[in-house]
Amino acid sequence: MLHEPVVDLKNCSVYQAEYEVLKEVNLVIDKGEFVYLVGKTGSGKSSFLKTLYGALELKSGEGKVCGEDLKKMNWKNISQLRRKMGIIFQDFNLLNDRTIKENLIFVLKSTGWKKGKEMDKRINDVLASVGLEGKAWKSPHQLSGGEQQRVVIARALLNEPLMVLADEPTGNLDPETADDIVRLIRQVCKERNMAVVFATHNYNILETYPGRVVRCQSGRLLDEKNYLV
Ligand SMILES: Nc1ncnc2c1ncn2[C@@H]1O[C@H](COP(=O)(O)OP(=O)(O)O)[C@@H](O)[C@H]1O
Ligand SMILES: [Mg+2]
Repeated sequence: MLHEPVVDLKNCSVYQAEYEVLKEVNLVIDKGEFVYLVGKTGSGKSSFLKTLYGALELKSGEGKVCGEDLKKMNWKNISQLRRKMGIIFQDFNLLNDRTIKENLIFVLKSTGWKKGKEMDKRINDVLASVGLEGKAWKSPHQLSGGEQQRVVIARALLNEPLMVLADEPTGNLDPETADDIVRLIRQVCKERNMAVVFATHNYNILETYPGRVVRCQSGRLLDEKNYLV
């Protein structure tokens, strides 16, 4: 169990309704591993991530993610799976009528936290780890895009997931802020031994921060092992 990979897919297909987006997908991601997911718009990156977090059904193949069997997904398994994952989207998906703290409390309560003091401590910890200490009382619209994405990263860390899935998290940011966000995600996940799947079509990021690359192309997921500049 100790060395079980966080993602283990054997001959999987990714479907959007009846349309097969990717086929014959084989992929193993180890604990703490950082992986870029690249490919043109429409090549299947988001669909692939949705399959990993149980939003799209695994219709063929065998898949285990964070110890959960993707073939046996029901509402209970999905909530168990989601608790072991942090998900970061391009659009920040923050509730704009609530403060940062309220946004984070909302997530903690919906994942079973009850004690106010414990929630406060956890929120202070995650905000500090993304450099936003003292901003808990602000509303999302009082923060810059980069700061909002930091809140989203903090939110993804709340339940100390095994893996973080990031779907083009820098897509709405200027290049310098995008750089900060990549560096931050890499750093906080490395410190906590969390695996990361980071979807992007920004090749500058790969050149600045090289790493393992898997590519969606022509209906397949190609494992390129290492991207060398
Ligand atoms: N909700 C959906 N219903 C049907 N087809 C979809 C849906 N979302 C995406 N697709 C199709 O699946 C393919 C892959 O899309 P997507 O996974 O969004 O790619 P990417 O994230 O790489 O841009 C595209 O052909 C797209 O049109
Ligand atoms: Mg996408």
